[in-house]
Amino acid sequence: APGGRGNPRLGFTSVAPNTIDDVVVPEGYDHRVVVRWGDPVLPGAPEFDFSRQTAEAQEKQFGYNCDYVAFVELERDRGLLWVNHEYTNENLMFAGYTDGNDADLEQIKIGMAAHGGSIVEIERVGRTGAWKLVTKGRRRYNRRITATTPMRLTGPAAGDPLLRTEADPKGTEVLGMLNNCAGGMTPWGTILTAEENFNQYFVGGESAPEEAKAALKRYGFATSGDTRAGSRRFDRVDERFDLSKHPNEANRFGYIVEIDPFDPDYKPRKRTALGRFKHEGANTRLTKDKRVAVYMGDDERFDYMYKFVSDKQYRKGSRRHNDTLLDSGTLYVAKLTGDSPASQIDGSGKLPRDGEFDGTGTWIKLCDSRKSYVEGFTVAEVLIHTRLAADAVGATKMDRPEDFEASPVTGKVYCALTNNTSRTPEQADEPNPRAANKFGHILEITERRNDAGATSFTWKVLLVCGDPEDESTYFAGYDKSKVVPISSPDNLTFDKRGNLWISTDGQPGTINCNDALHAVPVEGRHRGELKTFATVPVGAECCGPFITEDQKTVFIAPQHPGEDGVVGAPQSTWPDRGDFPRPSVVSIWHTRGKDVGV
Ligand code: FEO
Ligand code: CA
Ligand code: CA
Ligand code: CA
Repeated sequence: APGGRGNPRLGFTSVAPNTIDDVVVPEGYDHRVVVRWGDPVLPGAPEFDFSRQTAEAQEKQFGYNCDYVAFVELERDRGLLWVNHEYTNENLMFAGYTDGNDADLEQIKIGMAAHGGSIVEIERVGRTGAWKLVTKGRRRYNRRITATTPMRLTGPAAGDPLLRTEADPKGTEVLGMLNNCAGGMTPWGTILTAEENFNQYFVGGESAPEEAKAALKRYGFATSGDTRAGSRRFDRVDERFDLSKHPNEANRFGYIVEIDPFDPDYKPRKRTALGRFKHEGANTRLTKDKRVAVYMGDDERFDYMYKFVSDKQYRKGSRRHNDTLLDSGTLYVAKLTGDSPASQIDGSGKLPRDGEFDGTGTWIKLCDSRKSYVEGFTVAEVLIHTRLAADAVGATKMDRPEDFEASPVTGKVYCALTNNTSRTPEQADEPNPRAANKFGHILEITERRNDAGATSFTWKVLLVCGDPEDESTYFAGYDKSKVVPISSPDNLTFDKRGNLWISTDGQPGTINCNDALHAVPVEGRHRGELKTFATVPVGAECCGPFITEDQKTVFIAPQHPGEDGVVGAPQSTWPDRGDFPRPSVVSIWHTRGKDVGV
C-alpha cells in the first residue's frame, strides 16, 4: 500500500501532458480558483472593473502574476494566504497597450500597484480542501504590499554610502519591492519574499556614473543603447528609477524581504545580511544548535547557490528576538567538486563510471557581520555587490539556481536548476553535467552530520530533466519507461511523507506541453518515480506550490497565463473566459478527503 516513512509512494495517476487552457488535476481530485487579479483585498476596495481600472483601486485589489504562495491557519477553516506578485503583463492588463514610453501615467501607476504581494483571509468551502476568499467582515490581516510601500533596510549594509540617495540620505528606508519571485516561511511565522529580476525596472544606465557600471552590468542592468526601449518606464512616475540621476537606487533592490503576516503595521524589512542578487527564494532550516540557516539561489545562468547562517539562536515564542535573527550572521557561497574524472563528464548527460553525478562541496565564507573574507571588499560591499564577491572566491557556476527546499523527513536539501542553454560541453561539470541544458536538473545536498550549520556537504544529481525518451535524462536510476516528462524545474515543496513536489516554468517552449506540478519520492525503492499532479493553462508557469499542514490542499498559482497575447486576442482566457486571462491562485483537493498525493 502507498504510504509509510522511508518508502512513500504516490497514489494518483499522472495527468497526461496537454495543451488545455485550464488547470487539469488527476482523477479523484478537484480544483477551484481562490482569488484572482483584481479581487478586492482591503475593505472598501471596489469590484474589479477592467475597462475602468485605476491605481487607487489596484492598490486595494489583488495584484498581478502570482508566484510564491504560503498559507497559515488562523482558526478552524480560516487562514491567511500570502501571495507574491512578481511582475505585470501590461499587454493583457490594458487594451491597445504598446510600451511604457506611450503608456498613460495612470497605467504605469496601476502596474506599480499590481506588483508586490498580498495577504488575504481565506475560508474553507464546506468540509473539503477547497478554499475561497473571505469577502465580508473585518479581515484585519488583509494587506497589499506594492512598489511604493515604505520598507526598512536592515543588517550590516544598512546606511552604507552605496545605499544612500537624495530622498534617503541615511540609506535605511526604501519604497517598495520588485519582482518578488519565490520565498519561504520562517520557523517564527514570517514570510521571506525574494526580489529577483529587479534590473528591468531601471533606465538611464547608459548615463550612470562610470564607477557604477561594472556592478550594474554584472547585475544585468542595460548600460548602453536605448535603455528606455521596452521598459515599463516607472521613471516617468518616479525619477528614482533613472540610474543617470539616482544610480544608488538600484542598490536598494535585490534583497530578501521579511514580512510579518500577523502584524498589518509591520514595516517590511530588506535583510541586507542575506546578500543582494537575483534572489529566487529563501528557505530556512534550523541548525543543530538552533540557529537559522537560509538557503538561497541566484537565478541567472552561471550564477551561484548561497547560504546564510544566523549568529543567534531561534527562540520559540520570542517575536522580538526572532525579528533580529536575519540581521547578523555569516553569508556563504557554494563550491562543488565532482568525484568522477572530468574526462567522464562530456556534456551529453551520460553517467560517469561510478553511476552517479555526485561529489562533495564546501560553503565558502564571504562575510559575517563584522568581517569580510573577500579581499578588496568591505562587509557592506560583499552584501551589496554579492555577485562580484562570489566571483572573486571561485564559487561554482550553476545552471540557474531557483528554489531550495529541505525534506521534513530526512533533512536533505534540494535545489532546482531550471536550465542553461549557454553551457558548452567544455563547461559541463559533474554538478551541471549536461551541455546546452534545455530542461534543467535537480540537486540533492546532504550537509555534514545533517547539520544546516555545516560548512561542507555531499551532493548528488537527483533528476536530469526532459522527456524520458531522451537519452540525456536521468530519474535517480528509476525505470524511465514508468516516468513522465518534466522540463525547467522552478519551485519546490514537500509533503509530510517526504515526497518532493516540483513545479515548472518553461515546458511549453522545451517539451511542447503546458507547465505542470510534478511529484516524486526521493527515498526508498520508488525514488525517481516522477508523476504529474496538475497542469496549468496555456502560457502559464506553475507557481506555488504549497501543501497545507493538514495535507488536504495544494495551492498553486498559474502565473502569466497567455503571456504573449493581447486584450481581445488572448492566448489564454483562463479562468473567466473573457477577453483576457486573470492570474489567480487555485486550491486542489481530493474529493473524498484523502491527503494529497496519497
Ligand atoms: Fe522568477 Fe527564477 O523564477
Ligand atoms: Ca560520480
Ligand atoms: Ca521562479
Ligand atoms: Ca523561473
